[in-house]
Amino acid sequence: MTRVAVFPGSFDPMTNAHLDVARRASGLFDRLIIGVLDNPKKAPLFTGAERVDLIGRCVADLGAHVSVEAFDGLTVEFARRHDAGFIVRGLRAVSDFEAELQMALTNRKLAPEVDTAFLMTALEYGYVSSSLTKEVARFGGDITAMVPAPVAAALADRIPVGPRV
Ligand code: PNS
Repeated sequence: MTRVAVFPGSFDPMTNAHLDVARRASGLFDRLIIGVLDNPKKAPLFTGAERVDLIGRCVADLGAHVSVEAFDGLTVEFARRHDAGFIVRGLRAVSDFEAELQMALTNRKLAPEVDTAFLMTALEYGYVSSSLTKEVARFGGDITAMVPAPVAAALADRIPVGPRV
């Protein structure tokens, strides 16, 4: 039996917490498709294509069974298109739990054949989020521990540095 999972998210941008989850999920599933939600209404810092490219470079060493693509619409439909039985999500602190539970239950209602598998974020990345990383980068703080090297370089290119904090 082939175990296929999708790992959906905004990934604006991918952080070390995301990468840690992707790495561990890549060891659990026969195929892992990282899905980048491409919703222009969210006004992301990086376009969908840019995020797909960045993530592709970050996960290049995880193996040919890991791929990245943009999607729009429902995550469960994205999962169905790939015959995926699982949606992977990372869980950081307790604060993530309520929203994640609500999403998992909604997704199960929409697609009972697709289950959500949660992976606890590694302790050292428990504080890392895409939005705080962008904020730190905006004020010239050091983000090298928070994001993979290609993302740090892309952030440095994209964000004009403000006053140092
Ligand atoms: O990285 P994020 O922003 O926490 O990811 C959230 C994401 C993309 C997984 C969620 O917003 C989502 O699944 N969006 C697609 C639309 C959808 O399926 N909505 C119903 C989910 S309950």
